[in-house]
Amino acid sequence: MTRGIIISGGWGTRLRPLTCTIPKSLIPIVNKPVIERQILLLKSAGIKDIILAVSVMSDVLRKYFGDGDKLGINIQYTDEKTPLGTAGAIKLAEDYLKEENFFMLNGDVILNFDFKELIQAHARYEGLGVIASKVVPDPSRYGVIIAEEKSNKILKFLEKSEYTPPDGKHIPMPINAGVYILEPDIFQYIKPNKKVSIEHDIFPILVSEEKLYHYSIPGVWKDIGKPEELLEGNIQLMNDMLKNLQTKKENLIDENLDVEGKVLIKPPVTIGENVVIRKNCQIGPNVIIGDKVYIGANTEIKDSLIYNETYISENVKCEKTIIADNCLLHDGVQLIGNNQNLVILSSYVEVLDNIKLIAPYNNSLAICHHEVVRLDVS
Ligand code: GDD
Ligand code: MG
Repeated sequence: MTRGIIISGGWGTRLRPLTCTIPKSLIPIVNKPVIERQILLLKSAGIKDIILAVSVMSDVLRKYFGDGDKLGINIQYTDEKTPLGTAGAIKLAEDYLKEENFFMLNGDVILNFDFKELIQAHARYEGLGVIASKVVPDPSRYGVIIAEEKSNKILKFLEKSEYTPPDGKHIPMPINAGVYILEPDIFQYIKPNKKVSIEHDIFPILVSEEKLYHYSIPGVWKDIGKPEELLEGNIQLMNDMLKNLQTKKENLIDENLDVEGKVLIKPPVTIGENVVIRKNCQIGPNVIIGDKVYIGANTEIKDSLIYNETYISENVKCEKTIIADNCLLHDGVQLIGNNQNLVILSSYVEVLDNIKLIAPYNNSLAICHHEVVRLDVS
């Protein structure tokens, strides 16, 4: 098998305002776009050609990935003028995918496992497709899989909201992780030029024909639907990456980090290239900082994601925050989220001196791109 298709079609509304300036598939996961992480996993499983089926902001993706040369893989694009659904999107790539079985990925999931395992499982099952599955505590927002235990043949596939647990209470179930291996015969089931959903329209037919299997994947899995899931998924992947390193490390820090004086780093922390951290800062735990970020003296950051080229001045405090690229935080700013609710700054936000933004207890507090914040919010 040498080919794969990644689909990305939505506006990423639940991740707004981050997705107002960054397409969902380019949202950074431990400092690399979510789709780039998937492409690298496909590449290590021997995939050489990847098709991106993108229906929203596709020009930004084309600019970022080009023909894939930078990543050492061939990348092509479909031309989906209006969203055709998850199956309609791959139907457009039939000509590229009709020779042999191929990977299909939802472009909005964080993963970290050896894709070769799935190739081997598919070879054993001899179905028309295999779905990567993951047991999650609350399956209500996902496609639920009910399967024969021994053979892994799927007996029922219930797309989100179609599954009601027997006594009304959700219990852990295997769900559709949004990664599949499919045989080219799948295209016979998809009508061309129509909006078709693989989960609603195609999987139930394959199940009734006893041609669909699942394989429970190891490692990290997270759908980046909502900001708190995005923060959690980033931290989980950072921990998994650290765990899998050959030489044990507590942090993933670029070796040229420019630190002035005493800085306390509490693991796990990731820091990208060309970052400057001034004296008496406390960074971590659970912090991921991108490239070209400046952090002024006496600043404390924990449980937060900071994207590229953001400037943080002195005496700043960030807790449970996502700060997108090119933000500017002046002296004494405090951004404080709580367990479920974050403070989110979209790209190019400026927060003036000593401003406090505190997330309420029932919602995240989000600031739109290019805003200048002049008043406290709590
Ligand atoms: N190109 C294209 N065109 N892509 C699409 C379209 C479309 O019309 N519609 C959806 N997609 C892409 C999305 O961008 C995303 O990457 C993927 O298909 C799944 O769509 P979501 O809208 O994110 O669905 P979901 O997360 O609620 O549910 C899906 O993923 C779950 C796992 O994360 C389903 O496949 C569930 O069964 C599954 O459990
Ligand atoms: Mg999704």
